[in-house]
Amino acid sequence: MKKLTFISCILLGGWLSGAMAADKTQPVYKSAKAPIEERVNDLVGKMTLEEKIQQLNQYTLGRNNNANNVGEEVKGIPAEIGSVIYFDADAQLRNAAQKKAMEESRLGIPIIFGYDVIHGFRTVYPISLAQACSWNLNLVEDACAIAAQEARMSGVDWTFSPMIDVARDGRWGRVAEGYGEDPYTNAVFGVASVKGYQGEDMSDSKRVASCLKHYIGYGASEAGRDYVYSEISNQTLWDTYIPPYEAGVKAGAATLMSSFNDISGVPGSANYYTLTDILKKQWKHDGFVVSDWGAVPQLIDQGSAANRKEAACQAFSAGVEMDMMGHCYDRHMAELVKEGKITMEQIDDAVKRVLRVKFRLGLFDTPYIKETTEQERFLLPQSLATAEQLAEETIVLLKNEGNILPIATDSKQTIAVMGPMVKNNTELLGSWSGHGRVENVLGINEALDEEFAGKANLVYADGCDFDGEDTSKFSEALETARKADIVLLCMGEKRGWSGENTSRSIIELPAIQEQFIAEMKKTGKPIVLVLSNGRPLGLAKVEPLCDAIVEMWQPGVPGGKPLAGVLSGRVNPSGKLSITFPRSTGQTPLYYNQRKSARPNSGKYQDIPSTPLYEFGYGLSYTTFSYGDIKISKADIKRNEKFTVEIPVSNTGKRDGAEVVHWYISDPFCLITRPVKELKHFDKQLIKAGETHTFRFEVDPMRDLSFVNSNGERFLDNGEYYILVKDKKVKVTITD
Ligand code: GLC
Repeated sequence: MKKLTFISCILLGGWLSGAMAADKTQPVYKSAKAPIEERVNDLVGKMTLEEKIQQLNQYTLGRNNNANNVGEEVKGIPAEIGSVIYFDADAQLRNAAQKKAMEESRLGIPIIFGYDVIHGFRTVYPISLAQACSWNLNLVEDACAIAAQEARMSGVDWTFSPMIDVARDGRWGRVAEGYGEDPYTNAVFGVASVKGYQGEDMSDSKRVASCLKHYIGYGASEAGRDYVYSEISNQTLWDTYIPPYEAGVKAGAATLMSSFNDISGVPGSANYYTLTDILKKQWKHDGFVVSDWGAVPQLIDQGSAANRKEAACQAFSAGVEMDMMGHCYDRHMAELVKEGKITMEQIDDAVKRVLRVKFRLGLFDTPYIKETTEQERFLLPQSLATAEQLAEETIVLLKNEGNILPIATDSKQTIAVMGPMVKNNTELLGSWSGHGRVENVLGINEALDEEFAGKANLVYADGCDFDGEDTSKFSEALETARKADIVLLCMGEKRGWSGENTSRSIIELPAIQEQFIAEMKKTGKPIVLVLSNGRPLGLAKVEPLCDAIVEMWQPGVPGGKPLAGVLSGRVNPSGKLSITFPRSTGQTPLYYNQRKSARPNSGKYQDIPSTPLYEFGYGLSYTTFSYGDIKISKADIKRNEKFTVEIPVSNTGKRDGAEVVHWYISDPFCLITRPVKELKHFDKQLIKAGETHTFRFEVDPMRDLSFVNSNGERFLDNGEYYILVKDKKVKVTITD
C-alpha cells in the first residue's frame, strides 16, 4: 500500500507541476510562473507586424489633471501602444488607459508609463549637480528610492533618469541635471540612482525602471548650446563619456535614452557604433533604447536623413528601439519591413527588448495600480527627512572670511536679509521638478524666521530682482543694511535658467545682481552671499565683495531650512564641489582632469589667472581638518596585485564635522596622454572634534590605474603611478 501511495504522490506531483507550468487554459506569456524569456518568445510569436510596430512607439497622455475628461484622453491613444509619457499623477487616467490596452487589444499587452522623475516626484530633493556635492551615495540612493515609490504609486513605471552626461561647460543649461564634470562621479552616482530606482526587483510596486541618458556625449554640445554638434574623438568617447554608461548598464539599468547631439558627424540617435556595437554587442544590454523626444525626425534637421522614413530606418537600424513622440516608426516601419530595409528579425529583437522590461516590471501580472490617496504617497515624514538631510549635505561653504559664519545667536544681532531669492520659493525647486509644488517648499524667509526666532532680529528688504535694470529699491535696501550687524544677500538663478534649452552666454550673475552686491558693500557691513543656482557661476567680480559665500544650489522641498541650519551653525556644511567654478565665462571649459600643457608655466591668460576660483572637490567646514601622510601597503606591485593606501585625517577644530576624502591617481607618462589626475575613490566620514579617522582605498591596478584606447581596450602599463589626496602623494611602481 505504502509503495503505491508513494508512487502515486510522485505521479500526482509531476502532473501538477506540469499542469501549473503549462496551464493549458492560458498562453505561456500570460502565465506568471513561466520564465520571462519563455513569455517574451511566446508573445512575440503571436504578434502581427502592426502589433509589433506599435510596441516601438511612445505617445503622451494626461497633459492636464482634469479627471473629467479621462475618456477623451484615453481615446487618443491606440490600445496597442507600447508606451506613453504620463503627465498625470493619479490612478484613474493611468488605469483607464491600461484597461484599454489590456482589454481592447487582441493580445492584452500592457503599456509602460514613463515620466521625467529627475530629482523627486512630489518630494522634490536637490538637483543632481548638487546631490553629487554631498558625496553621499547611500543618501542619493535613498532619495531615488523615495522618488520611485511616489512615482510608481502614481502610475509611472519608468523614469527618464539618471542623467549621467559629463558636463564641463556651465553655459549649458543641462549641467544642472547631471553629476558634474567627472566621469567617475557620474558613474557612481548614476549607479546609486539605478539601485534606488530599480531596487533588487523592478516588479516591486514601489520601484521603477531607470533610463540612463542622454546616450551619449550630450554634455559636449558645442559652446554650451543645446541640441548641437559635439566634437568627440573615439578616445574621448571612451575615456570620458562612456564610463558612466558602462557602469550604469553593468548595474542593470533597464533602458537608455539616445541623445540629440551630433557625435562628430553621426547623431546620437543614429549611431550604430554607440547604440549597437558598444551597448548591445560589447555590453550585452538586453533592455531597450528610447529616443529622446522627437530625436528620430530631428535626424532630418541634422542633415542625416532626407525624410521621416529614412530617419526611422537610420534610428532603428542603429539601435533605437522606441520612437518617443517622433511618429516615424508608427508611420513608416511597416513599409521599411516590406521593402526589406528592416528585417522581421530586427523588429522581433526590438519588441523582445521592450516586452522584457515590461515583464520585469511585472506589468503583465499587475497592470493596474492601487488607488491611493496623496497622503499615502507623498511627502511622508521619512521622505521629507531624507530630502532635508540630502539638501543639508549638498550645501558648499565657498568662503568664510574671519569665520563670520555661523552667525552668532547669543547676542540678538540684526540681520538684514535681501535679494530676489528670499521669497521666491518656486526657484528653489530647480528645473525638471515634475510634480513638485511651491506650496511644499519652505521659503528662505520662513526658514530664517523659524531658525533665528528669539536669537536674532531679522529685517527684510527686496533689494533687486533676478535680472533687469531696476535699481529703485537700492536706497531702501541701503537704509535697511545700515541698521544691521550683518547683511545676508540671497541671490542666484531662476529655475528656468537651467534645464533643457536654457543655455546662457555667460555664467556670471546678471549685472543687476552684481551691481546690488557692490552697493551693499558700500555700507561697510559684513556681507554673506547665498547662491541658489543650477550651474557653476563666474564670481570673480563679487567674490572680493563678500565675507562669506554659501552655495545652496536648488534644494527642492527642503527649501531654505538647510541653509538656515548652516547659517545658524545647527548644520556644519560638508559639501564639496562636483564641478569647477571658473573665475569667468572666458575660462570655459575649465575642469580638474584636464590633460597637461606642453608649457605648464606659460600659455596663461593675459587678463586673469588661469586657475579656477573654486576647484572641483573644494568646500569649507566650520571645523578644520589636518591630513597626515599617505601610507601604502606595498610600493612595488605586480600587475594583478591589489594594494592599500591610507591617510589619517584629524579634526583639529572645536566641533564635529564630516569630511570627504577624494582619492586620485596619476600616470605621469603614457602612450596615450592621461589627465593630470583622475578621481577613482572617495569616502565621507563624520569625525568628532579632536579625533582622527584613517581613510583607506584598496587599489585594484587594472580597475583604478589602467587607461583605455580609442577602441575601448583597456591597458595597464608597467611603471610608476601616483596616488594623491589633496597635496599629498605616494608613488607605486607596477611590474610584471
Ligand atoms: C526631453 C529631454 C529628455 C526628457 C524627454 C522626455 O526633450 O531631452 O531629457 O527625458 O524629453 O520629457
